[in-house]
Amino acid sequence: SNPLKVAVLGCGSVGSQVVRLLRAQADDLAARIGAPVELAGVAVRRLDAPREVDVPAELLTTDAMGLVCRGDIDVVVEVIGGIEPARSLILAALENGASVVTANKALLAEDGPTLYEAADKAGRDLYYEAAVAGAIPILRPLRESLAGDKVTRVLGIVNGTTNFILDRMDTAGSGFDEALEEAQALGYAEADPTADVEGFDAAAKAAILASLAFHSRVTAADVHREGISEVTAGDARSARDMGSVIKLLAIAELRTTEGEGGHRDEAVCVRVHPAMIPRSHPLASVREAYNAVFVESEAAGQLMFYGPGAGGAPTASAVLGDLVTVARNHRQGTRGVGESAYADRTVVPMGEA
Ligand code: HSE
Repeated sequence: SNPLKVAVLGCGSVGSQVVRLLRAQADDLAARIGAPVELAGVAVRRLDAPREVDVPAELLTTDAMGLVCRGDIDVVVEVIGGIEPARSLILAALENGASVVTANKALLAEDGPTLYEAADKAGRDLYYEAAVAGAIPILRPLRESLAGDKVTRVLGIVNGTTNFILDRMDTAGSGFDEALEEAQALGYAEADPTADVEGFDAAAKAAILASLAFHSRVTAADVHREGISEVTAGDARSARDMGSVIKLLAIAELRTTEGEGGHRDEAVCVRVHPAMIPRSHPLASVREAYNAVFVESEAAGQLMFYGPGAGGAPTASAVLGDLVTVARNHRQGTRGVGESAYADRTVVPMGEA
């Protein structure tokens, strides 16, 4: 059958692993999808930049918009990150009939509804499992597996870079800068480490988790945010002396308040901040760039999701999983669950948490 044409936007630590896996798994992917996958183009910022993977010169282009608007692309994989040009490219991809797989948490957390509506309007898929907690399947469970339950709390470690830094400060007595450099060298950190260190990345992921968990619309601006840049080696030592460890936590809760006349109100409250965790708590054993997310729901009770939360290959694993789903839908002329159905819940504004 006709090959499925895939365009990859971005060839950094995630994009290069996506390209590598597309090749390495070509036969299995073709069997799972029911059609061969053809890498139709790779958009990059510079043609001569060093890359972790060899891309044939004829597939490389600096004209991402031209690639997306070519008219024959079935699936666009966006792994550039950031707001623009990623947003314009995703919108153009949908308008041109492609489904989209993205790892872009910052964009989804800032302007998700614009993208969901564009996908609905185009009748195409928009999948983004890789945007939160790297390789860990957490969004699909929230969106699909737990759709019949009532989630009340999501809590966890969703930034690998800060967990790596805090882990090094805890176990090796490293200074902050040294640990950050190590995290960057391993490909965990964002291009601008401020996003990791000041909690913006975790806040974006928390907003996405809260939106799916509570079927609401939560943006990064709704999240109370505090990063780890003020955590000192002394703080790490004191925590250790007290039998605890400092972790950057993301917490999203559905709070029930009793209003007048016994009327019960529910509000979503989301925050990101460093916290002391007793060593006996499962979150204390999350090391290096691993992530862990606890989900509490009425019927299921407590669920724990754990795994590599950052890094090129783990993130590419989640991207490829979405690609298979989207490709199957595309071939069958169906689409996955859209995002348009949501409850209009009160979101407690930042600072009032
Ligand atoms: N910079 C992010 C992290 C990458 O460290 O978790 C994964 O989203």
